[in-house]
Amino acid sequence: MKTQLEEIKVSAQADLNNVKTKQDVEAFRTKYLGKKGLLTSILKQMGTVSPEERPKVGQISNDVRDFLSQSIDSKITEIQNAELSKKLQAEKIDVTLPGKKHRIGRCHPSSLVLEEITDIFIGMGFSIVEGPEIESDYYNFEALNLPKEHPARDVQDTFYIDENTLLRTQTSSVQIRVMEKQKPPIYIISPGKVYRADEVDATHCPVFHQIEGLVVDKDITFSDLKGTLENFLKNLYGEDIVVRFRPHHFPYTEPSAELDMQCFSCRGKGCRLCKNEGFIEVLGCGMVHPQVLQNCNIDPNIYSGFAFGMGLERITMRKYKIDDLRLFYENDIRFLNQF
Ligand code: DAH
Repeated sequence: MKTQLEEIKVSAQADLNNVKTKQDVEAFRTKYLGKKGLLTSILKQMGTVSPEERPKVGQISNDVRDFLSQSIDSKITEIQNAELSKKLQAEKIDVTLPGKKHRIGRCHPSSLVLEEITDIFIGMGFSIVEGPEIESDYYNFEALNLPKEHPARDVQDTFYIDENTLLRTQTSSVQIRVMEKQKPPIYIISPGKVYRADEVDATHCPVFHQIEGLVVDKDITFSDLKGTLENFLKNLYGEDIVVRFRPHHFPYTEPSAELDMQCFSCRGKGCRLCKNEGFIEVLGCGMVHPQVLQNCNIDPNIYSGFAFGMGLERITMRKYKIDDLRLFYENDIRFLNQF
């Protein structure tokens, strides 16, 4: 029996050289340690061994069993390691390869100008507020002294959602929302999208951006309005600009004005850019109408204020000498890359 056990060990050693896969390991285990395996069958003959020999034979068979189990364990580890290194090999990255170049996007010109504008106003102590684009008739018109039959409503072709709900045609609606919520002193600007049912052409688009401004405090006069807006435009366009205030009418300001800037191109002489006017219109403004203050429960005998509104695209076009508004919405990378 001793020799049989020795033979098993020798044959197992030879077999081990051919064990390459998990299936091979299982076959090996069955061949030697299975119920009908070689070692098991030999051990069944233990009864025939003399009592003196038995401990010795027992010892050898234990050694052979240990040898077989250890061989199986180390084969399994070997196979698992091989699988892992194959996987790692497949996932290997060559860190010395040059990287892929990512194209970096640019800010849209109107975002750049808006950022500049908000920075200037923040520098003068203003805060930024936003209002809803879907607005009620009350905030967009009624509270701004534009009752239902007012002719000035026709100037702004409105997208109505229902009788009382619309896409705001002007950011002036935010003035009312702010004054309802906040008591003076108020120093805010409010940038945002506005909508008008206009045909698309080089200077019109049904959606564009405005920046509204509102100041309400004690002793605010037209000089404050002039000083604030002149300072703003000098910061944006340079110290040497020339501005003029031209009387105008807006229902929510009294008196009202439009601010024009001398044409950069001809310096006031008149050219194609300014349509021979010498000046270009920049924004609308005025002293907040006492009725508008009252609509928001602010006492016009104690407080006064000024307001203004400008079109962001127009200011951006002027700043970068862009002559067609449609370029703003086409997202042509050749256009956007220039800023
Ligand atoms: N809401 C005007 C527009 O859409 C612009 C404007 C004019 C706003 C005068 C104002 C203002 O706040 O005082 O054309």
